[in-house]
Amino acid sequence: MSGIVAYIGKQEAKHLLLNGIKQLEHRGYDSAGISLFDGKDLLIAKKAGKIAELEKILEQKDISSNIGIAHIRWATHGAPNDINSHPHCDNSGNIAIVHNGIIENYSALKTKLSEEGFSFKSETDTEVLAVFIGALYNKVKNLDEAVRLALSEVDGTFGIAVISKYEPDKLILARRGSPMLIGIGDDEYIAASDASSIIQHTRQVIYLSDNEMAVLKKDSFYTKTIDNIATNNKVHLIEFDIEQIEKGGYEHFMLKEIHEQPNTFFETLRGRLLAEKGDVRLGGLLPVIDKIKNTKRIIITACGTSWHSGLVGEYFFETLAQIPVEVEYASEFSYRNPILDKNDLVFAISQSGETADTLAAIKEVKRKSAVALGIVNVVGSSIARATDAGVYIHAGPEVGIASTKAFTSQIAALLLIALHIGRMRNLSQVDGIKIAKAMLKIPDQMKSILDNTENIKEIAKLYSKTSNCLYLGRGINFPVALEGALKLKEISYIHAEGYPAAEMKHGPIALIDENMPVVFVAPQDEIYKKIISNIQEVKARKGKVIVIATEGDKRIKDYADHVITIPKTIDILTPLLSVLPLQLLSYYIAIERGCNVDNPRNLVKAVTVE
Ligand code: AGP
Ligand code: GLU
Repeated sequence: MSGIVAYIGKQEAKHLLLNGIKQLEHRGYDSAGISLFDGKDLLIAKKAGKIAELEKILEQKDISSNIGIAHIRWATHGAPNDINSHPHCDNSGNIAIVHNGIIENYSALKTKLSEEGFSFKSETDTEVLAVFIGALYNKVKNLDEAVRLALSEVDGTFGIAVISKYEPDKLILARRGSPMLIGIGDDEYIAASDASSIIQHTRQVIYLSDNEMAVLKKDSFYTKTIDNIATNNKVHLIEFDIEQIEKGGYEHFMLKEIHEQPNTFFETLRGRLLAEKGDVRLGGLLPVIDKIKNTKRIIITACGTSWHSGLVGEYFFETLAQIPVEVEYASEFSYRNPILDKNDLVFAISQSGETADTLAAIKEVKRKSAVALGIVNVVGSSIARATDAGVYIHAGPEVGIASTKAFTSQIAALLLIALHIGRMRNLSQVDGIKIAKAMLKIPDQMKSILDNTENIKEIAKLYSKTSNCLYLGRGINFPVALEGALKLKEISYIHAEGYPAAEMKHGPIALIDENMPVVFVAPQDEIYKKIISNIQEVKARKGKVIVIATEGDKRIKDYADHVITIPKTIDILTPLLSVLPLQLLSYYIAIERGCNVDNPRNLVKAVTVE
């Protein structure tokens, strides 16, 4: 995600901080900013765009400072513009903060602070925290305590760094769910959200724990919990090199992003899923809530992986909300004069928010006055701006060209929306609770798949030389078969086809011989028995069968050459688990073939041409 660097010591903070945030650039960001205290004033410079834009502003200012905080933002609340960039200040302008993460209860806090007479310049959740800290400082006149009290009332995630004109010899850091490391130098500290900004200066670091804060002075520091209990931290030695750190210790961004999914899936649900009530809160859809309540038809439009998640979404809307759904390739949709009614809801799904085909489809929808909604990862992107309302998936920047974590987060967002609409219609609370509880188990279930990849690596070795591969699934796992095939094609250049398993006998079965690997997505769901028959059809023709099956399925071994298991969940959630082994399989096959996984030939991350 976004990044923080903070410094207190004897060196010039400006250059050190700018170099620090440059180390984080590869993670993807939309704006950059810095705050420095020059002995007299707290200076703020911030700008949407690249760090170079920020540097241009700073070149015109001759600042000397030994304390400061810097940030690169990856917007979650409010478009990526100059005002929303960090640092943010309290109302006095004397306290500056940078923040990674999401303050879930910012809206309630903002209302309360507004009633007390405080004002806000930006649309961010972060500014609310800054103003709140300022409000508390007015009462307690102690910066550490003001930060601590504010954080104890905040829901959500944060990594923060704070400096203030009131107590200019202090740098305060804190974290919950968002990383924060303190590099220990000689009478100086450089803190950051990622070790790559620290290791040029020191390899000795302290990792702050969740709900812990640190107060640093030039030559001393202490840490405590947000509940005010003193803590003791071990000093660790960083042994990685920079490249390894950028990729979180993984060999490729794609593998890192695959492994991030237990967290990114949860980030999509964060603050939205009300598990005890079996319901959902989606502030982004409030502007169109009446239209949503009354709609009779949903259309989903997208490209590539996002189109596949749309196909999964079709099942959600039909099963949970009983609304008819059509899923359209965005590139086809705009060119065939689609029939749209003003009561139709059209969801555009896009990781980048910049896909030209999807944007063109949205323009067509708007021209015909239907309701255009976005399910987008990049905040403030063209599709997010072109739609009437929407839901951000909050999966964090996706760097690998082959989309992985965006897929599971798109599915999570679609589930939330379908559950929300379902509960407004006929879905009972009991059923809502059952689904919500199963959703909360998904992160741990994903982890258990990601912790057991040996089997997948071995299968990848055996089939890395194949030239063709079939992926078959039924029902809600048919789109997963399509996604598995797309992943393999994209990064290993093996020809792969996804098909509905039962449709195979109407044609593709002619391809099956002893050289054809066939991957079945066959969890033990409602249509399990049917898919077993399809597996037998392939086996009878000597095809090589690889099955994604439910843990404990004893029968499946009799029909399969290889079995990869996934934990048991309710039927509609199976795609969230079954896609993980397919992502890993394509990754390891591509590695065996020596392919460039993060930058496959002929592909770009966002296709901005029609
Ligand atoms: C998937 O791995 C992709 N490389 C590609 O198919 C992608 O999903 C598609 O171009 C849509 O992109 P978007 O989600 O950013 O709109
Ligand atoms: N929620 C904050 C914002 O949107 C921080 C986002 C980030 O992690 O960069 O400004």
